[in-house]
Amino acid sequence: MDIHKEKIAVIGLGYVGLPLSVMLAEKGFHTKGVDLDTRKVTMLQQAKSYIGDIDDTLLRKVVGSGSFHATTNFDEIKEVDSIIICVPTPLTKHKTPDLSFIISAGKEISARLQRGQLVILESSTFPGTTKEVLLPILEQSGLQAGTDFFLANSPERIDPGNETYQVDEIPKVIGGVTKKCKEKALSLYKKIYHNVVPVSSTEAAELTKLLENTFRFVNISFINEMALLCDQLKVDIWEVVEAAATKPYGFTPFYPGPGIGGHCIPVDPLYLQWKLSQYETSSTFITISDQINKRMIDYIVTRTEELLKPRQLLSSANILIYGVTYKKDVADTRDSPTLEIIEQFREKGAKVSYHDPYIPRLTIAGQLMTNTELTEKMLREMDCVIILTDHSNIPLDKILHHAPLVFDTRNVTKGHHGTSHVVRLGEGADL
Ligand SMILES: NC(=O)c1ccc[n+]([C@@H]2O[C@H](COP(=O)([O-])OP(=O)(O)OC[C@H]3O[C@@H](n4cnc5c(N)ncnc54)[C@H](O)[C@@H]3O)[C@@H](O)[C@H]2O)c1
Repeated sequence: MDIHKEKIAVIGLGYVGLPLSVMLAEKGFHTKGVDLDTRKVTMLQQAKSYIGDIDDTLLRKVVGSGSFHATTNFDEIKEVDSIIICVPTPLTKHKTPDLSFIISAGKEISARLQRGQLVILESSTFPGTTKEVLLPILEQSGLQAGTDFFLANSPERIDPGNETYQVDEIPKVIGGVTKKCKEKALSLYKKIYHNVVPVSSTEAAELTKLLENTFRFVNISFINEMALLCDQLKVDIWEVVEAAATKPYGFTPFYPGPGIGGHCIPVDPLYLQWKLSQYETSSTFITISDQINKRMIDYIVTRTEELLKPRQLLSSANILIYGVTYKKDVADTRDSPTLEIIEQFREKGAKVSYHDPYIPRLTIAGQLMTNTELTEKMLREMDCVIILTDHSNIPLDKILHHAPLVFDTRNVTKGHHGTSHVVRLGEGADL
């Protein structure tokens, strides 16, 4: 089919679904974006973006040309050829998979499923979700997968804030519920992506995503543990990682930080762990990495207390946090370790403020905080500035010049470590 006639619906217009929808629309697909959030849909209908990677000019182009249309009305999916699901897969309060968004999107689709439609699940989830959870819901329509409609899994690999790779340059792993389902999904994605990677089952596709993110989870946790050990060994972890990274094979550098945050890396391994628990087994690496990740938060707080000690008690200190998002250059604080670090400082009596160019306000434990302007006077009045996120536009010179003490957890002060009032996580220095 000519792609200019092909119609695709994307369900869930968040960090994954919106960039995907805009890319599809730019490529000439008639793209409908469906979301339950009326605020988001209204903004998109007015060509206003709420995601950093998508600017309003781009949205105006695809909304204006009619190639992208946002709606809250699921009935519009009856007209499309393919439906791509990009809804959230968070954890419940018991740290188990919360599939309620996939289930509710599945029910909406099932009630409107048309013969010949292709449905692809892109949300990150444990192996078995497509076949054991989504398939039965869709077959309640009376249609059968592989003959009447087609169902596949292709985990999303978008990396918000990453300007190196365009969405269509990231190879797409695809598994189908049946052979025909896989062929249908491959045939669509070959028109969209430069590279497609077929795998033998939806379970293999689902586990590929969990393997990728668990690999990062375990390795970042390992390097964080090494950073804590390096503070005791009095060796600089940053120097050691850089030196090790010169090895042309067999070593992949990972860098320390205040703990792993975001919607994916700390969450996906726990999806895998939950699935393993159904087989009465578990991954030791995931358990330990989760523990180390939590330990980082306590370490940042106790290390700050130690650094302040010669001059100031933490209980009466003024602390400024630079960067509250879970990673650089994104406006996303979901599961950011910063939130718990701020809470712990407050519980210990410190007066905490924050500066983050991406986050105008923040609510932590029911208390609203607003972004503090970084003035020279304010920096001078702080007892400690803690750099928790390494946004590209950090005004480093200003901070270094005016703050009496800087605790850098991201190595942005690299090259300034001779400066007596700057301490980096894992550099092993006494103050
Ligand atoms: N954010 C990332 O960096 C990233 C990267 C790769 C994969 N993923 C995975 O992609 C999935 C989506 O993540 P995200 O970051 O885009 O989430 P998000 O929270 O930013 O967006 C999800 C959107 O889905 C909407 N939604 C929820 N239930 C719905 C329903 N039943 N019908 C229609 N819309 C619904 C929400 O209103 C929201 O706008 C998750 O499984 C996530 O793990 C995320």
